[in-house]
Amino acid sequence: MGLLKRHDIRLMKRMFDIDLLIETGTYKGESVAHALRCGYQKIITIEIIESLAKQAQEQFADFSGVLVVNAESAPGINSLFLSGKIDQKEKILWWLDAHLPQHYSNDYDQLTDKNIIFPLKGELTAITKNRDVSRDIFIMDDLRLYEDGPFLNGNCSKGTRPFSNHNFVIELLGATHKITKDFRDEGYLVALPISRQ
Ligand SMILES: C[S@@+](CC[C@H](N)C(=O)[O-])C[C@H]1O[C@@H](n2cnc3c(N)ncnc32)[C@H](O)[C@@H]1O
Repeated sequence: MGLLKRHDIRLMKRMFDIDLLIETGTYKGESVAHALRCGYQKIITIEIIESLAKQAQEQFADFSGVLVVNAESAPGINSLFLSGKIDQKEKILWWLDAHLPQHYSNDYDQLTDKNIIFPLKGELTAITKNRDVSRDIFIMDDLRLYEDGPFLNGNCSKGTRPFSNHNFVIELLGATHKITKDFRDEGYLVALPISRQ
């Protein structure tokens, strides 16, 4: 499992003047708690599994700046924009970490929709169609789903990698961001704004 704390989000906040952190895939709220410790006061986290979302809502009930949304991530992001919950002036750090709901709840055992199981492309499409992302930061987990490499936790087992490349990330963010690969854990893509203006 990828970890937000591998990345210096305190420094990123300061350097890129980040106002809001949005996470897809809440799970047990560990990254929300970490982000609060790192000085993020406004956090939105989206979780598909109702029981996990409820648990996180209770966990962060005392933090008025934390919003836990029970939704599938890509439609959930669209709804956040539609309902005006995202201020277009704010700069956002996106921690895109939702995948494989069937690993977290038996309710999803029969799920076959790749757009829900691996929602990164849908998430990035929802974000970029709703917003000028040129000042946002993106940390995307699980690079090894898209390519083989010297990952600390190894490649996907032979023949099981679900994607052949991550070209969609370059297409959607390549003009505005410097995208780097990080091979720790299962791998990350980190996209930092080219311009800080
Ligand atoms: C790796 S865990 C997230 C860990 C968490 N982000 C952290 O840093 O501690 C993945 C989570 O994504 C959720 N998930 C999977 N697919 C999803 C989807 N399409 N939309 C929203 N949440 C999803 C799972 O239920 C699970 O809780």
